[in-house]
Amino acid sequence: MKQEVRERLIFALDVDDFSAAEVWVKRLHKNVGLFKVGKQLFTHCGPAVVKMVQDYGSDVFLDLKYHDIPNTVAKAAVEACKLGVKIFNVHALGGAEMMRKTVAEVDSYCAAAKIPPPLMLAVTILTSSTEETLREVGIDRSVEEMVVRLAKLSQSAGFSGVVASPKEAALIRAACGADFAIVTPGVRPSFASLDDQKRVTTPAEAIAAGATALVIGRPISAASDPLVAAGKILAEIEDALVN
Ligand code: C5P
Repeated sequence: MKQEVRERLIFALDVDDFSAAEVWVKRLHKNVGLFKVGKQLFTHCGPAVVKMVQDYGSDVFLDLKYHDIPNTVAKAAVEACKLGVKIFNVHALGGAEMMRKTVAEVDSYCAAAKIPPPLMLAVTILTSSTEETLREVGIDRSVEEMVVRLAKLSQSAGFSGVVASPKEAALIRAACGADFAIVTPGVRPSFASLDDQKRVTTPAEAIAAGATALVIGRPISAASDPLVAAGKILAEIEDALVN
C-alpha cells in the first residue's frame, strides 16, 4: 500500500495491555501507518508500548490530550518528542499561551536533537460534548462556533492541526485553509456497525470534507477479517484522494 495512503489510516489501539496491543500491531502494521496510543494503554504500559509500535516500523499518535499550565504541558510535550512519537495532542481550551509555549519548546528541543518535530494537534470541543455541556461550564456559544474559534486559536498559536468530528471538517477547512491537518475519529465504512458513535461519516465522506487522516478502531478490530477491513478502508481513502 502506498505510504501516502497508509499514513492516513490511524488504528486506535483501544486495548488495555501490552500483548493485546502487540497482536494488533503485528497484524496490521503493513497496512496501517500509525497506531493511536491513548490514556488507558499508556497508563498501563508506559513508553514500552510506543517503542513496540516503532520496532514494527510504524508510528505513534500519542493521544494523551494534555491540558495544564503552559510550563507543564510544554515539558510533557518535549517528553513525547523524546519518545519519537509522530503525533501528540493537547486541549485547545488550555489556551493560546499553553499552545505557544508548547510549540516553542518542542521546536527548540527538536532542532537541538536534529529530529523532525511531531505533528501537534489540538482537540477543540470533544465530540461527546453538547451545547448543554458547554452551558454547564459557562460557555454560552454553539459547539460549531467554539470548534472554529478553537481551531483558529490553535493555528495562530503554531499548531499543525486539530482532532475533530468529520461533521466539523468542512467548517474547519474553510476557516483554517488548506495546510491545516484535520484528524477525524467517528468514521464508519458502510460495512461496519455504528457501535456507540452517533454522528458518523464514511471514510470517503470524511476525506471529501477535508480530513487529512482518519482514526478508526472497531470497524477494523471487530471485523471478521481485520486485514480485509483495513484494506477496504485504504482503498476507499485512496479513491477519495483521487476524486
Ligand atoms: O472504535 P472507534 O472507531 O469508534 O474508535 C475511535 C477512536 O477515536 C477511539 O479511540 C475513541 O476514543 C477516539 N475518539 C472518538 N471520538 C472523539 C475523540 C476520540 O471516537 N471525539
